[in-house]
Amino acid sequence: MKKLIPHIIFFILVSFSFISCKHDIINPTLTTTTDTIVVVTPPANGGGGTTNGGVTVSDTVCFNTEVLPLYVSYCGSSGCHDVNSHRSGVITVDYTNLKNGIKAKSPNNSSYYTIIGNGMPPRSSPQMTSAHTATILKWINQGALNTNCNNVCDTTKFTYANAVQTILADNCGGCHGSKPGSANVYLGDYASAKAYITTNKTLFINAITHSTTLVASQRMPPSTKMVDCKIAQLQKWIANGYPQ
Ligand code: HEC
Repeated sequence: MKKLIPHIIFFILVSFSFISCKHDIINPTLTTTTDTIVVVTPPANGGGGTTNGGVTVSDTVCFNTEVLPLYVSYCGSSGCHDVNSHRSGVITVDYTNLKNGIKAKSPNNSSYYTIIGNGMPPRSSPQMTSAHTATILKWINQGALNTNCNNVCDTTKFTYANAVQTILADNCGGCHGSKPGSANVYLGDYASAKAYITTNKTLFINAITHSTTLVASQRMPPSTKMVDCKIAQLQKWIANGYPQ
């Protein structure tokens, strides 16, 4: 019997580590990426590309403005797949960690793609649209590159219909796109977004500009700030009285 005691203790310890594993999954080592950031610029004459928020850009999907915001918003909330929570060891808020579940040019072998709509996001959470998954698919088929687009939006466009709706859906929708929304902030339709921002203008602007007057958890979207031109479009929309 004495001989068995260490085994029993070992067994108990192992069982406990399984029970508690949901809470202390070891943070996967953050390796520095060797993937080159490919800077994508709009074609000079505006020809031949697709439109992104109203501007013609090259046909290459921008990881930073088109793909990452979706994974941050729809998968990377606190309690799920942000750096601190890393549920099931999955982190979706940066390129290096996302690549753990994405295989370039092989969408069927990319578990972070195939799971979308098949269990994730959980049914009770806002779901990505077919346009969102199409963007991710295209990005994978183009090689899942760390493409980076800066300021490719057309800041002369700032109505709800031609800019703001898409910005809010892509960058905020996973957390504030269905009622009641994270922190009771619902931004899922024109009237609600306008009403919320009208009464909380300073807080809203500070949140989207990642102002240091706010604690880090209040800077929106969490993890990654939007590119300046999208912030500018939102600010113009607000300053001009929320044009529809
Ligand atoms: C991954 C989930 C997530 C995304 C994406 C997200 N938010 Fe939030 N948001 C939260 C959470 C959680 C809080 C509460 C934060 C706190 O109080 O610490 C919050 C709070 C806020 C607040 C109120 C701040 C406060 O102090 O109460 C505003 C305004 C806001 N979000 C706007 C946005 C906007 C605009 C976007 C998109 C550009 C966005 N959020 C994207 C999760 C998210």
